[in-house]
Amino acid sequence: MHTISIDRVPVSNLQNIDLDNTPFGRVFTDHMFTADYINGEWTNLNIGPVVDFCIHPGNLTLHYAQSIFEGMKVSIADDGTPLLLRPDMHIDRLNRSAYRMCMPEVPASLFHEALTTLVGLEKDWIPSKAGSALYVRPFMFATDEFIGVAASETYKLVILTLPVGPYYDKPVNLKADTEHVRAAPGGVGDAKTAGNYAASIYPAKKAKEEGYDQVLWLDGKEFKYIQEVGTMNIFFVIGNTIVTPAFNGAILQGITRDSIIHILKDEGYTVEERQISIDEVVQAHKDGLLKEVFGTGTAAVVSPVKNIGYKGQDYPIDVDSFKIAPWAKDYIAKLRRGQIEDTRGWIVRVEELVAG
Ligand code: COI
Repeated sequence: MHTISIDRVPVSNLQNIDLDNTPFGRVFTDHMFTADYINGEWTNLNIGPVVDFCIHPGNLTLHYAQSIFEGMKVSIADDGTPLLLRPDMHIDRLNRSAYRMCMPEVPASLFHEALTTLVGLEKDWIPSKAGSALYVRPFMFATDEFIGVAASETYKLVILTLPVGPYYDKPVNLKADTEHVRAAPGGVGDAKTAGNYAASIYPAKKAKEEGYDQVLWLDGKEFKYIQEVGTMNIFFVIGNTIVTPAFNGAILQGITRDSIIHILKDEGYTVEERQISIDEVVQAHKDGLLKEVFGTGTAAVVSPVKNIGYKGQDYPIDVDSFKIAPWAKDYIAKLRRGQIEDTRGWIVRVEELVAG
């Protein structure tokens, strides 16, 4: 049991928010969790109002991006209980990212207590509309004031919560990028660290100027093997087989990706995690075998892909004929809401409501 002090806002901002119509990422709940890592331990555990941080200009994160994050979603069951999906996977991944970025581990018990206390406090902020949820953004960043490339000795851990609608509200148009590289094995592509996303902004901007929504990343050596989309992992339905790129150290170990693989396999589908080249996808398209393409992620959930652009040529896919992606999206939405049985023990009910 950790001691988390709680400072409540005098008046909630919830009354000013249309919960079912919040754009992704712009609206924050009243409270956040914060903790400081000082002298080798997590201290100052607090849930308080979402306020600005005061940061020294020499803050190490501002210069060298020693910063990691997670993304989770909380839904509300029909009986009003907040439900978390696989929070243990998120703390594991946060700690793997921390290890790679030379940052301290967060004890699972501390993470769980902070998360459930905060979610319990912000329960009324959980949207009930289909496709909406309370997004949870845990993150950790270096707080030393030091203009030198080294691991910080102090850190801040924060958990923000935001009511959100869908990240993509329409099918996605992807450009397979043959110029820029997201990550290579041995780099930090499988860590959920800020720099990976910063590096994706310029190529995504260029793709948008050409009419695409996002970049489909290829390997950095041959620009041949598919990795992921910057905001989600990627799946291809080729004939009767569902293929997703295997992890190789350069691909984010998506938790929704893992859930979808389990769900599809349990339903009897053949799912292969393996190396897949853009040439194979193009050939499957030419042969009429590319039945579906979809992305998976906490924010993106299951997002259909309507087109892939590669070397100046577009390869459109008829999203209206998709069967597997809409089924999987619906399954995971119902699982999150407790509307179908949780046979895998993935759902954690947040029963601990905060007193006082
Ligand atoms: C998530 O899916 O939670 C992410 O962190 C991706 C981000 C682009 C919103």
